[in-house]
Amino acid sequence: MCGIFGCVLRNGPVVPQILDGLGRLEYRGYDSTGVAVIDNGVLQIRKDAGKIKDVVIRLKINEMKGSIGMGHTRWATHGAPNMINAHPHTDSSGRIAVIHNGVIENFMELKQELLDKGHNFISKTDTEVIPNLIEEEMKSDIGLTEATLRALRRLKGSYAIVVLSSLEPDKIVCARMESPLVLGVSDEGTYCASDAPAIRPYTNKVIYLRNGELATLDVNGYKIVKVSDGSSIERVPEQITWSLEMSEKQDFPHYMLKEIFEQPTSLRNGLRLQEKYVDLLTMFLDRGKEVFLVSAGTSQHSCIVGSYIFSKIARLTTYPVISSEFIEQYGSTVGIDSIVLAVSQSGETYDTLKAVDHARMRAATVLGLTNTVGSTLTRVSRAYVIQQAGPEIGVAATKTFTGQVLVLAQLALKLAKLRGKLSQDELDEYKESMQKIPGWVETVLEKTYDNVKDLALKYKDDKLFFFLGRGISSATAMEGRLKLLEITYVPSLAYPAGESKHGPISIIQKDTACVFVCPQGETHAEIIGSIMEMKARGASIISICEKGDEAIKRLSDSFIEMPKGIPELLTPIPYIVPLQLLAYELAILKGLDPDQPRNLAKSVTVP
Ligand code: F6R
Repeated sequence: MCGIFGCVLRNGPVVPQILDGLGRLEYRGYDSTGVAVIDNGVLQIRKDAGKIKDVVIRLKINEMKGSIGMGHTRWATHGAPNMINAHPHTDSSGRIAVIHNGVIENFMELKQELLDKGHNFISKTDTEVIPNLIEEEMKSDIGLTEATLRALRRLKGSYAIVVLSSLEPDKIVCARMESPLVLGVSDEGTYCASDAPAIRPYTNKVIYLRNGELATLDVNGYKIVKVSDGSSIERVPEQITWSLEMSEKQDFPHYMLKEIFEQPTSLRNGLRLQEKYVDLLTMFLDRGKEVFLVSAGTSQHSCIVGSYIFSKIARLTTYPVISSEFIEQYGSTVGIDSIVLAVSQSGETYDTLKAVDHARMRAATVLGLTNTVGSTLTRVSRAYVIQQAGPEIGVAATKTFTGQVLVLAQLALKLAKLRGKLSQDELDEYKESMQKIPGWVETVLEKTYDNVKDLALKYKDDKLFFFLGRGISSATAMEGRLKLLEITYVPSLAYPAGESKHGPISIIQKDTACVFVCPQGETHAEIIGSIMEMKARGASIISICEKGDEAIKRLSDSFIEMPKGIPELLTPIPYIVPLQLLAYELAILKGLDPDQPRNLAKSVTVP
């Protein structure tokens, strides 16, 4: 999604900070770059399609002066990625500039109205109506803040915007509705950005703007008002507790690899959840007539894993539902007795928030599991828990997947206790195993990385991969496949292994790479049968199995050995790790950047 950074400094120049901030937002995915500054009262804009470093050189953005400005990385939603459609956009007079993340649903009508009033439009974007609406409002001799408020009241849809104008050259106006925006304050100046890591080098004091709020920033700080009625809102800054180092690459070549190796730490943090929130969520889960686990992408895979754990240890039936399908599938039945547990790393995924809105409208109880403090999901949930994985910058979710699963497992265990579904010994055993998870993951990272590198070399030219598992491991297989697909672009399929003979097996040929996730446990005998089916058709078998599992190893062309003694229900956490590493290594061998996969964004905040 688009990245936004704005800043007003006591002493300029502002451009280095804007470019640094945009760089820290690159992970959101983008196709164009643009910067606006006010220099000696004159608004200047330079923008084009392309990556920050290329556009900066091409347009000599480093030479722009001024102590107030803003920058934007655009991820196209309306109009092709080109110079004209890149942000900032201006009003017809060229004195008001706007950058925007989100989608304005009623821009066609607004554009026609503004065209009738004599405004000029040059882009194909929905954003361009915003500066023109502000220009129109300013004709009534009101200031920039009031004109922006009035303009925003005309918009339908989602936005995080920053407005800069030579008419009031000392201030920035910014606002949000559904798309994230965070403010920062320091002695040197005031900032706004799509995400806190962009601001973190300059301050640890941040203010999360909420839906329907507008802020006016100058060198002395910020003033927040409600868009609906202009009333003032007092909000003191929060302290960011994570350091900049925590969100930088340290010695790793990519964020993705750094985050894979961070998992022992993030999982240890995930075991230190605040008890009262876990208890609260457990109580709601226990009360529901039906429980939906609503999410997208990797978070949906966590939910599928969660559904097995809830069922097996707490005897709770849950329905994992892809958030973009939720309204179609269950929108007319969800109601006052339903629990919707929304799982979202960012807490800002449009489809998930839309499903949640619908569920709330029908009086369902919405619970949240997210990694992002201050995110929209935390505000719309009746109760929520933060998974404590720390910022995840790599587009491919890694440590947040394992963290989500760990939280869901803890919820299931609490619920099992509450419902009396496990004996004290069983409860103690699971608890003890959960405490061992970070150590198991550490062992996997230490002991398997070299084998995974060899595996990647062996299979680097394969054109198709199959990922298969039984029971809870079918979800591990799906997540392994998603990692491979999104960062290597290699076509791949994932199925519960028992389902493969109902169709997918038809495309197996000699040497087709089949990755089997096969821990010890209830599904072990069945997965051996599935491996044999594939082997009989010439497939090349890659297994992720327990150390010393000779039956599986004998059938495999390659294997990765995992620590012994992990209960099957907890295997998705350590067993996904070699698959994350495999996807990463294959991307590197193909010369691809795993942190910035094509067409993908870290946080999908548009429909
Ligand atoms: C995959 C990935 C995406 C996200 C999905 C949901 O690696 O990162 O599939 O999992 O966009 O995002 P959240 O969890 O932020 O709602």
